[in-house]
Amino acid sequence: MFITIEGIEGSGKSSLIARLKKYFKKSKIETFFSKEPGGTDLGKEIRKILLNPKSSISPESELLLLLADRAEHVQKKILPNLLKNKVIFCDRYIDSTLAYQGSGRNLGKKTIKELINAFNFPVPDLTILLDVPVQVGLQRARKRNELDRFEKEDLNFHENIRRAYLDLAKDNSERIVLFDSLISEDELFEMAINLIESRISE
Ligand code: TYD
Repeated sequence: MFITIEGIEGSGKSSLIARLKKYFKKSKIETFFSKEPGGTDLGKEIRKILLNPKSSISPESELLLLLADRAEHVQKKILPNLLKNKVIFCDRYIDSTLAYQGSGRNLGKKTIKELINAFNFPVPDLTILLDVPVQVGLQRARKRNELDRFEKEDLNFHENIRRAYLDLAKDNSERIVLFDSLISEDELFEMAINLIESRISE
């Protein structure tokens, strides 16, 4: 089973994933936790380039770097762990590309979808989308660390991404489950774990 976690900056992905990791450590269910970009050795190098605020990267090159990261990640980590019947949790995946590059960078969803199809990237069984107002998310991100190349973009960029995510949830209601991330971390975790366990047992 392949589960992805998505959302804008500061939407609470990291806290939710940390709690899921802790929870499944004590469970019999075998899991594999990963993230994009940066889930492989090559990916870690690509991630450094992509997040460095000093990097000057065109939208097209940015897209191709992210797809190189994904191709490596899918081949070396996702597919082998799916074959071992593990439950895979991935922090960001194809919906990030559709929202950030498709809408944020204006490359268009159609182009991104065509590339995703061309590379046969597996589609997640379940995607948890954490939604939070942009201002709240960016404030959380600012408190946490120095802003990276994506976080440094203006409000409009992030508003477009949030809107794109909400559209994706509407268009893929079977796969993408939307959670309001303004609720408490405890409540969010409870709702997420209930959903995940019911899907695993299906
Ligand atoms: P993330 O790991 O969420 O950053 P942090 O560790 O600071 O929470 O994500 C790194 C950045 O990569 C994030 O700003 C979104 C961007 N990204 C894309 O633009 N497109 C993609 O396809 C992916 C996977 C990530």
